[in-house]
Amino acid sequence: MKSNKALISLVVILSLLVCAWNAFAAHGEKKPEKKVILLVAFGTSDPDAQKVFDRIDEQTKKVFAGMDIRWAFTSKIIRAKLAKEGKMLDSPEVALAKMMGDGYTHVAVLSLHTIPGEEFHELVQNVHLFGQMADGFEKILVARPLLSSHSDMETVAKTLLKNIPGRKAGDAVLFMGHGTEHHPADAIYLAMNQVFQELDPLVFVGTVEGKPTIEDILPKLKNLKPKTVYLMPMMSVAGDHAKNDMAGDEEDSWKSVLTKNGFKCEAILKGTAEFAEIVDVWLEHLKTVVSHL
Ligand code: CO
Repeated sequence: MKSNKALISLVVILSLLVCAWNAFAAHGEKKPEKKVILLVAFGTSDPDAQKVFDRIDEQTKKVFAGMDIRWAFTSKIIRAKLAKEGKMLDSPEVALAKMMGDGYTHVAVLSLHTIPGEEFHELVQNVHLFGQMADGFEKILVARPLLSSHSDMETVAKTLLKNIPGRKAGDAVLFMGHGTEHHPADAIYLAMNQVFQELDPLVFVGTVEGKPTIEDILPKLKNLKPKTVYLMPMMSVAGDHAKNDMAGDEEDSWKSVLTKNGFKCEAILKGTAEFAEIVDVWLEHLKTVVSHL
């Protein structure tokens, strides 16, 4: 009887050990460490704007020498447009799934958005889900978008103000931010307006799809009576909004509205991502995240 009991105990212990070993073999097996950066932008189908992304890619490669870098576009419409031209761009989710399949263990995601709006929050949510997958990435972190602190806002404002060729004393500048109707992040445009106003009372920020609107800014410009109003996008690339809603000839473009109100307009079609100093602000956010991988 006694030996029978001992035998049973031995069998139980052995089978537990086998189970434990199997579990170890399946999940505990350490994959070799493989780090990667995923750059996420809204996207563009404009070849000029694509050149801007190419420069960001180069600048990122310089700062994070030796690290693999991949890209994803969040805009479905732009991905579909590019696909028709034979250019296959991934959504962040597809890019992450491919990276998982390629055996990457640590991922730093950089949002090349301007504000932490809807798209940024969707990205954070989906990255979080990828981080929870069994046998998936060991670590995945998201870096903040461009305007995430007061010092980011000051760097961006100062850089943009240095890059308005031809502006004379008494000329005003109106930046066009994208804006969002649904998110508290829209308040960042009001904060940016304040940062600009403190640097130079002739500089304002308005938005296409949020607050402040051009109608909010117009009376302020009228009070200051500038000769010329410089228009410049406060968006990563000078795409459709900058070319049409800001500088276009349609009746409701900012240029038309201002011209109707007696101002002379000069449009500068350059996005924030065209300035290396501004790209550095994004890359600083990425550095913080990479150092925590
Ligand atoms: Co838009």
